Amino acid sequence: MKAATAVAGTNIALVKYWGKRDEVLNLPATGSLSLTLDRLGTRTRVAFDGGDGTHDRVTLDGAPASEKVATRVTRFLDRVRARAGIAARATVVTDNSVPTASGLASSASGFAALALAATGAAGLALAPTELSVLARLGSGSAARSIFGGFVEMAPGTRADGSDAAAHPLDAGAGWDASASWNVRLIVAITATGEKALGSTAAMRRTAETSPYYDAWVRGVDGDLAAARAAIAARDLEALGAVAERSALRMHASAMAADPPILYWNPATIAAMARVRALRVEGASAFFTIDAGPHVKVLCDAREAEAVAAALAETPGVLRTLIASPGLGARLEESA
Ligand code: DP6
Repeated sequence: MKAATAVAGTNIALVKYWGKRDEVLNLPATGSLSLTLDRLGTRTRVAFDGGDGTHDRVTLDGAPASEKVATRVTRFLDRVRARAGIAARATVVTDNSVPTASGLASSASGFAALALAATGAAGLALAPTELSVLARLGSGSAARSIFGGFVEMAPGTRADGSDAAAHPLDAGAGWDASASWNVRLIVAITATGEKALGSTAAMRRTAETSPYYDAWVRGVDGDLAAARAAIAARDLEALGAVAERSALRMHASAMAADPPILYWNPATIAAMARVRALRVEGASAFFTIDAGPHVKVLCDAREAEAVAAALAETPGVLRTLIASPGLGARLEESA
């Protein structure tokens, strides 16, 4: 029996991915840029052992996965099976380091870990770029979690999507080693439960109905260039400015959809205001927000505890956690 276990960290986009040029191959309309984290990850074991006889058996956080999740996993495994020339159904056991229902568990670390574990179990040794392409078919943001540290996703130009892959920026080193470039990402949790509208559906609605979608897409290349330059220069202020602008533009495009998509709650806004107030007091802290109400704050490592404490006492913030830059997806020794 072939089995493999992989772990992957989630990633937070500083220049957002919001829209597709092809839904079938899950090709993004634009590039994006993210930071892979050491926390909020996924561990997944895949064994092509026949599953339950007729179906893949999928366990998520200790319980049988919903039909929706199981179907998405099977569709993904079908691609791996086709490529490896195997027919066997699989047993998939996957655990998130945060509860799936918290709204923090991500498809990014989930499909990155699944891509690596499934190809490992199938005996396919894919190069990292190929793994990134494969993970993208599960979820666009997962392509970035194959790599550690700062990562850029290329939208690609080929129709088959073979060049729509992520690559690490900064060669994975300097960002953590140099004291002047020691960043943290603080997550301020502002609600419990899963998000109202998933990213895939929300992106589709934005692209189809938002009068601001085209303007959003046109702005991304400029943000990417500014973010790349900021990372090369170790300029946290410049990177943070891009991150806030990109997140607000993404949300603005979604808010203008019909019906409108509004992910924020009062605590989301309070946390943004708090971050801006901290900056006035001299802190290097910058927010970003994904398809949910939580606020993620990029800051200097030396200020992380103080920033997290300020966020924790912001009305409506339920909990905070501090994550560091993390490694890319990797196989674990014991399958
Ligand atoms: C707001 O990667 O979850 O987090 O490709 O449809 O699975 P699909 O979408 P997904 O979208 C992520 C959206 C985002 C921004 C980002 O991570 O870049």
